[in-house]
Amino acid sequence: MTKLQFQFENKNVVVTGGASGIGFDIARHFLQSGAQVTIWDYSQEALDQAQAELGQWKSQLKVAVVNVTNRDQVAQAAAALPKVDILINNAGITKDKSFAKMTGEDFDAVIQVNLTGLFNVTKALLEKFTETSGKRIINISSVVALYGNFGQTNYVAAKAGVIGMTKTWARELGKKGFCVNAIAPGFIKTAMTNAMPPEVLQGMAAKVPVARLGETADIANAVLFLSSDQAAYINGTVISVDGGLVL
Ligand SMILES: NC(=O)c1ccc[n+]([C@@H]2O[C@H](COP(=O)([O-])OP(=O)(O)OC[C@H]3O[C@@H](n4cnc5c(N)ncnc54)[C@H](O)[C@@H]3O)[C@@H](O)[C@H]2O)c1
Repeated sequence: MTKLQFQFENKNVVVTGGASGIGFDIARHFLQSGAQVTIWDYSQEALDQAQAELGQWKSQLKVAVVNVTNRDQVAQAAAALPKVDILINNAGITKDKSFAKMTGEDFDAVIQVNLTGLFNVTKALLEKFTETSGKRIINISSVVALYGNFGQTNYVAAKAGVIGMTKTWARELGKKGFCVNAIAPGFIKTAMTNAMPPEVLQGMAAKVPVARLGETADIANAVLFLSSDQAAYINGTVISVDGGLVL
């Protein structure tokens, strides 16, 4: 039987929002698999910490302060990259409030980062994908895009938009050697969930058929699979990585 192994030597990967949380672990997994990784994040502090933690892969890693909402900054950072093979659009924020309480500013801020940010980054990097095949764009959406969520009008709208954009790019770019897919994570353990009381976490885990919260590695493994040559016929789909939460 063939062993499924992901090798990304000679692949150039960009991970947005890669300085912490899920994006950081995605970057770490790519580094472990031999890729050249560029992390774009708007937090200098988080980037410094990420760089220190990923020190053993120093020769494979580049970081840059990039706010995905700032088109000039994105264009400048893109110009500094010689080539891209794999783009992981992961940067995201939340500003949760019930619809009655949500302001226009709350709505715009989340759309700007979680939806327009993907447009800005992908547009700026498109011409950097110079190979004829094996090109990958993976957009991080959310399970809430599939079934809505109380208090997340802005976030759900953005994440559902990400799925629409993914399918459109899959159609437009498929002939040009790209596969474009989205991942919809469920409840994933990050610094944010680690700060929650244990009973809240247990309550969340109880809603998941596999009876646990997801690990950042669960998302990173799905990202690496979709980025691999073995996933060359998967295009325009949304993979839920949620322990069955949306069933
Ligand atoms: N954690 C979960 O349970 C969960 C579930 C579903 C989807 N997601 C999605 O996964 C992605 C990562 O989430 P996370 O939980 O790791 O979040 P996180 O807050 O831990 O990390 C997000 C990273 O993005 C960066 N970032 C935020 N805004 C940015 C901007 N404008 N420009 C550049 N960088 C920016 C932050 O500095 C941070 O390093 C997000 O898109 C999120 O919506 C997370």
